[in-house]
Amino acid sequence: MEALKQKILKDGRALNDQVLLVDSFLNHQVDAKLMAQVGEEFARLFANQGITRIMTVESSGIAPAAMTALGMGLPLVIMKKSSSRILSDDTLQTQVHSFTKNSDYQLTVKRKYIHPGDRVLVIDDFLANGEAAFGAARLIEEAGATVAGIGIVIEKAFQPGGRRLAEAGYKVISLARVAKMAENHIEFCD
Ligand code: G4P
Repeated sequence: MEALKQKILKDGRALNDQVLLVDSFLNHQVDAKLMAQVGEEFARLFANQGITRIMTVESSGIAPAAMTALGMGLPLVIMKKSSSRILSDDTLQTQVHSFTKNSDYQLTVKRKYIHPGDRVLVIDDFLANGEAAFGAARLIEEAGATVAGIGIVIEKAFQPGGRRLAEAGYKVISLARVAKMAENHIEFCD
């Protein structure tokens, strides 16, 4: 998505070869107009797939996911990150490890917000190692629903998440794929 790539080049900043700062428009301050375009683009790319529900992981996935839900006229469900295990029949949980943040959390969703037979589009802001997306997929499948697609705003293509998810059979579309970075230098895949 050209407008997104231009925004990353203009307002994003590579801290080093691993970390891309986008907090001026994506995950701290939010450029709502750009997010609306992101939502429209995901709605277009995932049209005609029989999708019934949008899901994301709190917190930075919420803005693009909300705009996608608006664009597709579908409900949005936010999976929560809980620090403790909840023992309840009403709740689905799975442990996710973040390599970037070197921490674990319990990805949590109430069963009443995901139903057997749902076809879910997962939207997230970043794809690095794919752990959050795999965790989301585990919960969706445990609920008897299907992951119809995974939409990512920024994929760090030099990390293994995209390849791992594709190898597992998931349809992943990333709006901007970063091939490599260095301090104050960002290169896209195409
Ligand atoms: P994975 O799910 O793909 O395995 O990724 P990983 O755990 O390694 O990292 C996910 C978290 O780190 C996410 O935040 C993601 O937004 C953030 N992250 C990863 N790489 C970058 C980067 O280059 N720049 C920035 N700004 N963030 C990055 P989170 O823990 O889900 O927190 P939240 O921001 O959604 O609350």
